[in-house]
Amino acid sequence: MCGIVGYIGDRDATPIILNGLKRLEYRGYDSAGLAVIQDGKIEIRRDAGKLAQLSTLVNDQPVCGHIGIGHTRWATHGAPSARNAHPHLGTTGKVVVVHNGIVENFLELREELADEGVAFNSDTDSEILVHLIERYIGGGNGLVEGVRLALKDIKGAHGLVVMSSDEPDKIVAARIGNAGGVVVGFGEGEMFIASDVPAILEHTRKTIFLESSQMAVLKKDGVAVQTLDGKRVESPIHSISWDPVAAEKGEYRHFMQKEIHEQVRALTDTLAGRVDFEKGQIRLPELNLTPEFSKRVEKIIITACGTAAHAGMVGKTLIERIARIPVEVDIASEFRYREPLVNENTVVLAISQSGETADTLAAMEEARHRGAVVWSIVNAIGSQAMRLADGQISMQTGPEIGVASTKAFTAPLVDLYMLAVLLGELRGTLPAEERRKLVSDLRLIPDLVGKCLNREKEVQQVARAMKDVKNMLYLGRGINMPIAYEGALKLKEISYIHAEAYPAGEMKHGPIALVDQDMPVLAIAPRDPWYEKMLSQIEQAKARGGNVLVVSTEGDERATKLADHTFWVTETPWMLSPVITVVPLQLFAYHIASYRGLDVDQPRNLAKSVTVE
Ligand code: AGP
Repeated sequence: MCGIVGYIGDRDATPIILNGLKRLEYRGYDSAGLAVIQDGKIEIRRDAGKLAQLSTLVNDQPVCGHIGIGHTRWATHGAPSARNAHPHLGTTGKVVVVHNGIVENFLELREELADEGVAFNSDTDSEILVHLIERYIGGGNGLVEGVRLALKDIKGAHGLVVMSSDEPDKIVAARIGNAGGVVVGFGEGEMFIASDVPAILEHTRKTIFLESSQMAVLKKDGVAVQTLDGKRVESPIHSISWDPVAAEKGEYRHFMQKEIHEQVRALTDTLAGRVDFEKGQIRLPELNLTPEFSKRVEKIIITACGTAAHAGMVGKTLIERIARIPVEVDIASEFRYREPLVNENTVVLAISQSGETADTLAAMEEARHRGAVVWSIVNAIGSQAMRLADGQISMQTGPEIGVASTKAFTAPLVDLYMLAVLLGELRGTLPAEERRKLVSDLRLIPDLVGKCLNREKEVQQVARAMKDVKNMLYLGRGINMPIAYEGALKLKEISYIHAEAYPAGEMKHGPIALVDQDMPVLAIAPRDPWYEKMLSQIEQAKARGGNVLVVSTEGDERATKLADHTFWVTETPWMLSPVITVVPLQLFAYHIASYRGLDVDQPRNLAKSVTVE
């Protein structure tokens, strides 16, 4: 997962950057690099592999200066290699960039720049940025203006840090959307910049966090923050606690809130190294999947518990639609006791953030014992579920601390989507044109999640209005039906409010009897193929006096006319819509629990890893 560190002051930047990157090492990466201005010239050292390799390189070819930037890269566009590692230098050799995020319109921009005569030195989307900045520097524009104008050309969510040997008194940083944080640290006559607080904690506790669409200009004696429109901003100073747990939470009150926000980066990392946007193809090498086996698979059984099982329910729709393989979703605690019918042409796919859930492990063992092929989608590296599987997809979310799972829910949704596309290609059920479209849609996801997060204040207001409810009913259909289950589970587990979820079509078979003014109904109704059906369910709830909350696509007046409260989401290709619609529900549950003064991160009676039956 990409990390950024930068320094400007009187000390040697190189060891500060290397140590800072080391503090981010636990997030995982596949290459690393740094750039320092030495004697007026930008010197770059970068390599594939771990920081130890970069340190060896720096020992062999030392570099020393008072201003520098560094990066650990988790490959998205282009293989992990020295040429694709950051920092990226522009054609003039005077501007250098490190970057987190995905440039959504990188293919168009690369063509445009190539037409202007730019030669590229890497396969990355990030390199686009340095060339764009160079395009705008000159004719009176300095580095700050160059960065500001370049950012107007790119789509997606980004965190970036830039320096220029023509202006060695400053580092320019920017954040657009939520591709991870950008934190500025204050020292005495020196300043620090990083993607994550731990990278700079050994030097300072005094920080500011950039908001989306803000830029920071760091000089050694301070920082000026402005919007992308050039308006000066006074950012609040945060004093990071000495308590390591509080320090890790950074700008957030709880780990759950932090992890909800980390989804943009977790999803970017989920795509890293697996999606070839140019060829429109997916690679999942840890799965050991051959075309022969893909064609032989007769059935997939997804087994998991709780939130992970809800992800599996979304996966069922995706795999059946795209790869045309029948999928069953089995709660792991049930699977193991029902003498499941599996054989060597069945895949049993376990999903688990902890990889240590006793029921899921037992289900995997049962599947293996009965001759099935066992795969896993797991977050915790080295866990049992990872080791038990014949093939696996590792979630790239980083550690999840909050007991209520959030980023370890959306990451497997994308993993399952990628799996469906790969199976569809290998089995020949997915026409090439459609495959390219499905793959291309993936690049939108981090930014779309970021857009939901930007609406947190609106969700918080609804949560305040609803914080004393006693019951709630969540409804969804089709691919968003599992999101009703997930939204209700989130509310139950952290706010202790009774919440039930139903496929909306089931209402008339019983649950509608519950609806009155004391039973709020939350309907998930984005513009997906089940939209019209959801509208009629909302009307029925409204007709019975229900207080109706709707998750609705921006600009949709029909659904919102019926609603008492609306959670807006941006229009999303329907097969990816659950990744987006769940975000307001996570925020809603979080803020309700927070208003009720509950222990959000460690709710009563629950554990992060359920290692008992
Ligand atoms: C999620 O918010 C819950 N805490 C819980 O349902 C969890 O998803 C379930 O226990 C499965 O855990 P796992 O992903 O670690 O296997």
